[in-house]
Amino acid sequence: MPRIVIISPSIRNGRLSHRAAIYLFNFIRENNLADAEILDLLDYNFPLFHERLVNQESPSAAAVEFSQKVRDADGVIIVAPEYNGGLIASLKNAIDLLTGEWRHKPVAFVPVSDGNFAGSQVIISLQFTLWKLRAVTVPGPLRIANLESAFDQNGVAADREAMNKKASSLVRELLRFIES
Ligand SMILES: Cc1cc2nc3c(=O)[nH]c(=O)nc-3n(C[C@H](O)[C@H](O)[C@H](O)COP(=O)(O)O)c2cc1C
Repeated sequence: MPRIVIISPSIRNGRLSHRAAIYLFNFIRENNLADAEILDLLDYNFPLFHERLVNQESPSAAAVEFSQKVRDADGVIIVAPEYNGGLIASLKNAIDLLTGEWRHKPVAFVPVSDGNFAGSQVIISLQFTLWKLRAVTVPGPLRIANLESAFDQNGVAADREAMNKKASSLVRELLRFIES
């Protein structure tokens, strides 16, 4: 079974986007689509970037674990909240930490926001950054607007049927790239 990691990057108090990560994790597991795991950047608690992991003399256990999990994954889903039209700092921080781990890795995107536009701007910088790192950027992002009303705190979608349809299309597209 393919391994998919879901990166949940928000470390903000009262964060909402983690709900989308929980939803996707449950969706993948319940439908037996892949072996899924959430990589929660709140747990990793990385310091601000000072050097790529590959160039660090004594990397932290957290950084080594994160690297290994991305390396071992067949595909990655990145939940990407939009802050001021771009990537949130914790996500860019974690992406920059790694190098070869991203190379040829299929990565699918879930741009989210609590507004009406579903992170429509963050996707531009996020895709470009992953492309620069030679990841395989999977087309057809799952955009989620109005986060607070889209899921409850346990990641249960308000409109399950509609959300499942969109999630299915995202995950199946990612799986196609994994298999190809
Ligand atoms: C610093 C900051 C900047 C934001 N900028 C945007 C923005 O440019 N576009 C947007 O749609 N929402 C913006 N938002 C609203 C976020 O989409 C909303 O807070 C969302 O819940 C963020 O995810 P999080 O709760 O998991 O941190 C911003 C929020 C913060 C805290």
